[in-house]
Amino acid sequence: MQTFRPDNGKLSAEEKLNLLVEFGARMSGELRLDKLLDIIAQQITKLLNVGRCTIYLKDVEKNELWSKIAQGHGLEHTEIRVPLNGSGIISIVARTGETVNLPNAYEDPRFSMDVDMVTDFRTHSMLACPLKNNSGKVLGVFQVANKSDGTPFDKNDEGILMLLATLAGSAIEIAKLYQDVHVAQLETIYRLAVTAEYRDQQDTRAHLKNISIISYLLALALGMSKKDAELIKNASPLHDIGKVALADNILLKPGKLTPEEFEIMKSHTVYGGRILEGAHSKVLKIAHKMSLYHHEKWNGSGYPKGLKEEEIPIEARIVTVADVFDALCVFRVYKKAWPTDEAYEYILKESGHSFDPRCVAAFKKIYPSVRKLYAHISVNQPQNKTAPAKENKLS
Ligand code: C2E
Ligand code: SIN
Ligand code: SIN
Ligand code: FE
Repeated sequence: MQTFRPDNGKLSAEEKLNLLVEFGARMSGELRLDKLLDIIAQQITKLLNVGRCTIYLKDVEKNELWSKIAQGHGLEHTEIRVPLNGSGIISIVARTGETVNLPNAYEDPRFSMDVDMVTDFRTHSMLACPLKNNSGKVLGVFQVANKSDGTPFDKNDEGILMLLATLAGSAIEIAKLYQDVHVAQLETIYRLAVTAEYRDQQDTRAHLKNISIISYLLALALGMSKKDAELIKNASPLHDIGKVALADNILLKPGKLTPEEFEIMKSHTVYGGRILEGAHSKVLKIAHKMSLYHHEKWNGSGYPKGLKEEEIPIEARIVTVADVFDALCVFRVYKKAWPTDEAYEYILKESGHSFDPRCVAAFKKIYPSVRKLYAHISVNQPQNKTAPAKENKLS
């Protein structure tokens, strides 16, 4: 049900100016596209005093327009998609770059009721204008519906919406570029990690995924912010990157390593540290600590430096629990897979020895979720294999 605001009064010129200033200020600090779109839609709903504001963005690859938010009707996370070459209002505005103002939407054949159907919203009047970047390229469409005083949108509203669209356009473009770079960075990290693990593990992707999920859950259970937990999640696949420097005869040895071989194996931490040394981005700085210190132990008996307790960076204390748990649960050329609950018992037993007791307590909390992650793995594992199952590596 659409609920109109109790105060149908219009904003004064001064109030509008204030909102414009606030609009610009609130947008300028936000680089995350989803959040930015939320802010813009909220501000526009307030500024134009409308029942709904929807922002459609062009998806050039798919030749579509999409929207994740339809403000005010519990639709926040539903994605709406319309074809760019369609015959609806949104498509027309995106194609022509012109504003369309419908005093009574349902009477116009170009208006599609699809969105109203899923949102339980009844559009009366509607105004849609193009969202352009600084050079005039159409990025998407702004659509507002139902002024709270029930009157159709007028020239004044068109002017304000276009002004807001101009302000919002450049902010959205920056956020999109930022997001593209961010996604590219994560993809690069992930592909690099796959390269490092590719040789010695039969199911690299699952292994890296599980370690990053466990690390993420551990960070959250330790009380870290979602943002920090995400950095840990994204850095964790790189913890063994130093293994790229190891020769096959050691990395792939289908049995126990000799003490000399194990000494060489240990150097994967030092190599990892070197590979990531001097990194600038937050995620790679964390990956650096993880790769260098993920074999340190709480009681000081680990390598390469024999650091103990809080001397070991928290990121490394987290990923080591995830790494050992996963290594125990899966098959390796030198060991069979342990049943999940036995691996869990081992983690508990090593609290205060190998692992930070706080991390183990956190692991205890998240174990019900972790157990589900491994539910299908334990039955599919080649429990007693002695040779690597190479054919599965790329699956
Ligand atoms: P990885 O296979 O990823 O194992 C990571 C860590 O999980 C190990 O670090 C160890 O702390 C734990 N872990 C794995 N399997 C077992 C196990 O059966 N029992 C116990 N108690 N812990 C286990 P660690 O020992 O420092 O080894 C580092 C890496 O060295 C391993 O990574 C693996 O690639 C290699 N490695 C270790 N031992 C052997 C071996 O006997 N043969 C071969 N071919 N490689 C080995
Ligand atoms: C359209 O007419 O293309 C869509 C209408 C809407 O989003 O409400
Ligand atoms: C990553 O976050 O870049 C890789 C781990 C994952 O896919 O969750
Ligand atoms: Fe390692």
